[in-house]
Amino acid sequence: MKSINRPELFDFEGISMVHYFTDNWENIQNFKARPDDILVATYPKAGTTWVSYILDLLYFGNTAPERQTDLPIFMRVPFLEAAFPGLPSGVELADALPTTPRLIKTHLPVQLVPKSFWEQNCRVVYVARNAKDNAVSYFHFDRMNMGEPEPGDWNTFLQKFKDGKNVFGPWYDHVCGYWEKKQTCSNIHYMFFEDMVENTGREVERLCSFLGLSTPTEERERITKGVHFDAMKQNNMTNYSTVPLLDFKISPFMRKGKVGDWKNHFTAAQNEQFEEHYRQKMKNTTLQFRTEI
Ligand code: A3P
Repeated sequence: MKSINRPELFDFEGISMVHYFTDNWENIQNFKARPDDILVATYPKAGTTWVSYILDLLYFGNTAPERQTDLPIFMRVPFLEAAFPGLPSGVELADALPTTPRLIKTHLPVQLVPKSFWEQNCRVVYVARNAKDNAVSYFHFDRMNMGEPEPGDWNTFLQKFKDGKNVFGPWYDHVCGYWEKKQTCSNIHYMFFEDMVENTGREVERLCSFLGLSTPTEERERITKGVHFDAMKQNNMTNYSTVPLLDFKISPFMRKGKVGDWKNHFTAAQNEQFEEHYRQKMKNTTLQFRTEI
């Protein structure tokens, strides 16, 4: 992969974006989904890799062993809108997936998801994470990811997060957008990062039931162990250590994996202001989050 410069943020279809996710826009919007495709949709840093790996193990954990040893998770579950120089685009990777189902990742807000996913009635697994921890995780990610705009210091970043000036736009609209869509679309399984931390096994079971999988209990337990934070952090196929764009000297990709790390970042004043702003932004939704478990 060629070395790249930190990109500028710009407004695109009403949300903040960088060109790596818009350069291939026509092909993204014209993507031909198949009825059995499964779309993993998240706001960045909500647990995308975690749920992608769970899905991969549920469907393909017992098939080709080299898939588990040689193929990083971002090749197994392509990032649809990604178009980085010198690498195959997400659309090319998704088109070339030999598996059934195809597992495909997106961070696009619900209104920008290519229409064929809805036309084909594809199943969508959405993961949401409470705003405070999501912001903290995104801050550290932007520090270490040269494909993202400069985050600035924590206070600067937090302000940008509140203003929706992050790649993929406002967290508030993202989580609420899929939540509203779910009210009329039974193909969306809405998960919470906090529930996954609290009881991963239960969430794997719920996922199986949504997907109509009759994975035996022992197999589910094995998967639950395999997707533990420590296991994924050690596993080079899931810890992103093979991506040159990420500077692990600044921060690891598998950073903490906790609920409540926001308490180590927010000052009392930041927390008070954030909560006031949050109440305003979320006053019209029934969606509820836990910021501790
Ligand atoms: P932190 O930065 O808080 O540690 P994404 O995959 O959407 O980019 O999300 C990354 C976040 O999910 C990171 O959060 C990462 O540590 C956390 N994560 C990934 N796998 C996890 C696991 N198995 N258990 C707990 N957290 C996990």
